[in-house]
Amino acid sequence: GTTLGAAAAEKGRYFGAAIPAFKLSDSQFVTILNREFNSVTAENEMKWDATEPQQGVFTYAGGDRILNHARSQGMSVRGHALLWHAQQPGWAQNMSGTALRNAAINHVTRVATYYRGKIHSWDVVNEAFADGGSGGRRDSNLQRTGNDWIEAAFRAARAADPGAKLCYNDYNTDGINAKSTGIYNMVRDFKARGVPIDCVGFQTHLGTTVPGDYQANLQRFADLGVDVQITELDIAQGSNQANAYAQVTRACLAVARCTGITVWGVRDSDSWRGNDNPLLFDRSGNKKPAYTATLDALNAG
Ligand code: G3I
Repeated sequence: GTTLGAAAAEKGRYFGAAIPAFKLSDSQFVTILNREFNSVTAENEMKWDATEPQQGVFTYAGGDRILNHARSQGMSVRGHALLWHAQQPGWAQNMSGTALRNAAINHVTRVATYYRGKIHSWDVVNEAFADGGSGGRRDSNLQRTGNDWIEAAFRAARAADPGAKLCYNDYNTDGINAKSTGIYNMVRDFKARGVPIDCVGFQTHLGTTVPGDYQANLQRFADLGVDVQITELDIAQGSNQANAYAQVTRACLAVARCTGITVWGVRDSDSWRGNDNPLLFDRSGNKKPAYTATLDALNAG
């Protein structure tokens, strides 16, 4: 393949980018997006604060703009994210207990129902595990509604959109560590008890190197019977950037259930990471060495 999307497709995978709706009026951005990618994630537009700014009042303008662009180009869409401790609307931040639980599940049901049949994979729950060595849940208003809030969210999402793959998504889970093992144990428990979960997203926001056990970590989750996806890839620029992108790409291709890769932005100027220059295209929209290394890795073998 001569583009990221085409090369990934030849390997039975997608290659996506996170995009904000307002950049769909930047012609250089759209040219690269349409040429290279066959999947998109809304960078912010499908989050709780964007889709339910007032309780029970749902707004889909930004999400729809991204979805409609994707559909017109034949790209699939990753839904991001139904429930998260961050980017909650103010009204939810101030809720607790049964009222918050009911509001959260209603949110999942309403948004997943609105987009039913149009989303390839939903990040049903984002970043619910704690950093550090505990392997346990992160404290949040959602967690304080009861440990079963995650499975309740997955059941509601399945009922609302039976065709979407339902994912748990997190960061600093790229290697085998206490946090990724906590998630591993949750997924194993969900599979044992029949809680609907189809995939685990590994954000893969990396410094300059890839954990040595990155592929082994993806594989141990796949062995539980879920797909794995690389959902928010970016890697700080430095002498190892191209090599690190190639390593991540090769790891996904080596794991049969790794179904796709998403980078968290298109050009370095589109990144949330300021001056890290962690993406595949430079600030002028030119392909970087990391782009070529990624494309070559997709085309190898
Ligand atoms: O939309 C408001 C706007 O109304 C307001 O005037 C402006 C003033 O600050 O803020 C705008 O919101 C910003 C929003 O992006 C939309 O542009 C927020 O301040 C800003 O914090 C927010 O940042 C996003 C961040 O998530 C929020 O946590 C980034 O764009 C987005 O790339 C980032 O993405 C996350 C994933 O969802 C989850 N994993 C980590 C990843 C990187 O942090």
